[in-house]
Amino acid sequence: MDALDTGTWEARAAALADELVFTGVLADRAWHAAFAATPRHLFVPRILDGAASLGAGDPGWLDAVYSDEALATQTRPAGDTAAGREIASSSSSKPTVMAVMLERLGVEPGHRVLEIGTGTGYNAALLSHRLGADNVYTLDLDPELVDMAHEHLTAAGYSPHLAAGDGYQGWPGEMRFDRIIATCAVTAIPPAWIDQLADGGRIVAPLDAGAAGPLLVLDKTADDEVSGRIDPFPVLFMPMRADVTSPFAADHEPPAAATGIPHYGTTAVDPATLLNRPELALFLWLHAPGLRLAGSVAHGVVVAERGPARAEVDLTPLTEGTWAVRQSGPYRLWDTIEHAATAFNALGKPDAVRLGVTALNLPGKQFVWLDDPDSDYSWPLGIST
Ligand SMILES: C[S@@+](CC[C@H](N)C(=O)[O-])C[C@H]1O[C@@H](n2cnc3c(N)ncnc32)[C@H](O)[C@@H]1O
Repeated sequence: MDALDTGTWEARAAALADELVFTGVLADRAWHAAFAATPRHLFVPRILDGAASLGAGDPGWLDAVYSDEALATQTRPAGDTAAGREIASSSSSKPTVMAVMLERLGVEPGHRVLEIGTGTGYNAALLSHRLGADNVYTLDLDPELVDMAHEHLTAAGYSPHLAAGDGYQGWPGEMRFDRIIATCAVTAIPPAWIDQLADGGRIVAPLDAGAAGPLLVLDKTADDEVSGRIDPFPVLFMPMRADVTSPFAADHEPPAAATGIPHYGTTAVDPATLLNRPELALFLWLHAPGLRLAGSVAHGVVVAERGPARAEVDLTPLTEGTWAVRQSGPYRLWDTIEHAATAFNALGKPDAVRLGVTALNLPGKQFVWLDDPDSDYSWPLGIST
């Protein structure tokens, strides 16, 4: 296949759209039509895969473009000790995930939609096909990506509204949207999104939970409030960031060296019972966003890290039912973990579907709840250090 031989794209796009229906992620015929009619190859002229890259016309490029895979299109230096390590900072998301999110958005003709995270522009093209480009507003932090997305969208025949800026602030200027979809992961709902959401509006956003997180599907419940359940469909998105040159979320930079005098104590929670348990991992993350928990058999410990806070717990009990803990950093991270793990067990190990979020348009006024918004068990969402 040479660089210009993309003549099979229509059959490939139709096959991808059919696959999304057959695998059960796409039920809405109008979204099927959008996937079948949108030339993804115009949005990903170069795919990055580790140190390698695949460009238009390279063998395998068109196969990759019309596969149900996320395609990295930009990387940024990790800036840590592993010299030269790069982390993806933009991509065309996995079509299955895009389909699920677009369906959850529940759009209707005439709806005005804001997308946070333009990336390649492919999702904006799907939205434009469905709603008309004039109803689509899309914003990316990186002006270079916005320029490239503009080229891609023009080549595909769409001209939605584009802007460069920090999506945390919403769309620049006074605007109201019926739907807001974020294609970068958040730890809490930016207040501006709630302000810019029209009555009856909905926000669909991936929750940043380290590994694949769930979706937040939140409806406007008052002028200053959105609320809804956590949708456990697992989605993996790059985090919403504040610095164009960094691939990391503002709150989740690599941990700094621990400071201060360590605190030595004990815990009644067996650290081994916290590992490899996805339901518990989400519950813990929601109590301590950014938490990283890993076992080190070689050192006989479980290590918990969150920003500059760190805890190490011995895998071998100190006495029956107690394990030794060393905590360092600005606060005692293990105390939070122990509280959350104990609550998880006391509440009957709740599935993610029992959790919901209510977010007011004020930082710190956002809550996770169990079963219903007035639950006795609720706690702050997305509090970072
Ligand atoms: C997975 S990509 C988006 C994929 C895109 N929707 C597409 O169809 O190609 C995530 C995007 O979110 C953008 N992003 C990250 N933080 C942002 C922020 N604070 N405001 C706006 N965009 C942001 C990144 O630059 C990146 O392009």
